[in-house]
Amino acid sequence: MRITINTIKRMCMEGEKIVMLTAYDYLTALLVDNAGVPMILVGDSLAMMVLGYETTLPVTLDEMVHHTRAVVRGTARALIVSDMPFMTYHINIATALENAARFIQHGGAQAVKLEGGITTAKTIKRIVDCGIPVMGHIGLTPQSVHQLGGFKVQGKTTHSARQVLNDAMAVEEAGAFAIVLECIPSPLAQLISERLSIPTIGIGAGPHCDGQVQVLSDILGLSPGSVPRHAKRYTDLAQEITTAVTAYINDVKGGTFPDADHSTMIDQSLLAEL
Ligand code: KIV
Repeated sequence: MRITINTIKRMCMEGEKIVMLTAYDYLTALLVDNAGVPMILVGDSLAMMVLGYETTLPVTLDEMVHHTRAVVRGTARALIVSDMPFMTYHINIATALENAARFIQHGGAQAVKLEGGITTAKTIKRIVDCGIPVMGHIGLTPQSVHQLGGFKVQGKTTHSARQVLNDAMAVEEAGAFAIVLECIPSPLAQLISERLSIPTIGIGAGPHCDGQVQVLSDILGLSPGSVPRHAKRYTDLAQEITTAVTAYINDVKGGTFPDADHSTMIDQSLLAEL
């Protein structure tokens, strides 16, 4: 049975920390689901982690739906939340609704995530009113990277902190079932978590949120280049993969692979007939 938004809300009420991770494909989704992660985000960070872009902006709706379908196929238990990509919910509410519906109807996701607070609230409300659960996302909103002047911590001044708080309240008021707080000071995330009744899911927002989300490739040591300060590397998969691939290259070149264990034989008499 898949986890529902009610389970997520109940975990929050009971003080159980909510764990969320990104996954972008069948194989990693399978592993993350089997490990027991209750909520998987098909994040638009796949633009950078899978498709090699510099920002999340170029990834399209079709690409996001395509990856969502693969993640859904790889999972049996986790609640799947898909990111609505840049400009797929900004033009007007009708288009936003149509696009959100694609993730549910064709992608098989159970919820969508939209960036923005006060400015996105009306859109969130309409999507929720149509029966599609929405996760909000405020603070550092990577789809606004150019407007923000880079991937910078938000809410560091009184004015900016008040703005983040107002955004959080607008998202809750609009009916979102949970909200991502990205890259804001820990005390501000604590205040918001106390103020809101919906679960807050932090990334670079300190330990006081109701849950945490991370980009899978960051915690596995797979992300190319520098990783954000908030990301803890639990293993060095890039090194592990490089070591394995190098060993394979050496085996093939040295003629030690495939060996008898990895080959199929037939009877010599059969061969003689040929
Ligand atoms: O796309 C993503 O991975 C995200 C997380 C950073 C929350 O939105």
